[in-house]
Amino acid sequence: MDLKQLNAFIAIADLQSFSAAAKTTGLSQPSLSRLLKQLETNIGVVLIDRYHRPLQLTEAGLFFYDKVSALLIELDTVTSMTQRLSAPSIALNIGFVPSVLYGLLPEIIATLKRHSSNQNSDIEVNLKDISSYQQIEALKTGEIDIGFGRFAHQDPWIQQILLRHERYVVALPKAHPLAHVREQRLIDLANNRLILYHQTHLPASTIHMSTTHPTITENNSLKSKHEPVTEPLLHLFAQYGISPFMTTKVSDLQVALGLVAAGEGITLVPASLQTVRTEQISYQRLIHENVTSPIYLHTLKDFIHPKIPDLLSAIYKVYEQRGITYRPQQFI
Ligand code: BEZ
Repeated sequence: MDLKQLNAFIAIADLQSFSAAAKTTGLSQPSLSRLLKQLETNIGVVLIDRYHRPLQLTEAGLFFYDKVSALLIELDTVTSMTQRLSAPSIALNIGFVPSVLYGLLPEIIATLKRHSSNQNSDIEVNLKDISSYQQIEALKTGEIDIGFGRFAHQDPWIQQILLRHERYVVALPKAHPLAHVREQRLIDLANNRLILYHQTHLPASTIHMSTTHPTITENNSLKSKHEPVTEPLLHLFAQYGISPFMTTKVSDLQVALGLVAAGEGITLVPASLQTVRTEQISYQRLIHENVTSPIYLHTLKDFIHPKIPDLLSAIYKVYEQRGITYRPQQFI
């Protein structure tokens, strides 16, 4: 069995056609057909049922496809990591989700740059706005060297450091009756339209509590009592047994704050967002100490850009200057 045969099999299975696979691989149809036959003969199993159009995987072929495609992706990751080990990039490429840019990221980078220039080794930093989930793929392909996000990811290639938990605040239109109430409770907010903006939902396995009431969404669909609540803001309410009266889902945090400013509803945002649109929005603390949003650092396990330990020191330095509590961690 060799790589050519495996790649031919994956292309035929993906496109369900010899002619389409020939076009994308640049091989002739007879060559593809020969490679597939050799592979099947080597392992003694028919992988593709040639009698159906479009072509179908056999049951064994489906199993083989799942395992082999995962192995080929791993092989790509290993190849790109090996290339980076032999020629590491000079610049530090940082992926981030927008909500951390409004917070301490600019100050952390300034601290890192000051530290580097004190050591007479200037550093070039590139910033890329990229979702938590996509950061994991971008780390593997080498597009970024480090990612900051708000979701935990379990992946054999990735190491994750929990930096801190940031408290949520409630964002209300300035004219809202509760706009001047200092310490707010989630239960008092339940009668409002809650604007949801997260694109990545929590994996169902991390949810320990589900909503105890049916939830009526904007289109009035009724969700089952037993369905776990995976949307992060609804999950926070559900921890207290509360379902907001109505919800509206938007594409990102900026749009959510725009709707709050326009008086369309309320939302919860990490405290560092409190500087946005302050003429139209009132931000107030929540009394619940555990209504927080985590900030994670993700990087590869086997390849750490040489500047990353300095970046972690810069993060902790900023936390100390601002009196933020954290638990220092190290790379493995
Ligand atoms: C923070 O706000 O704690 C933070 C933001 C960006 C990167 C690292 C930490």
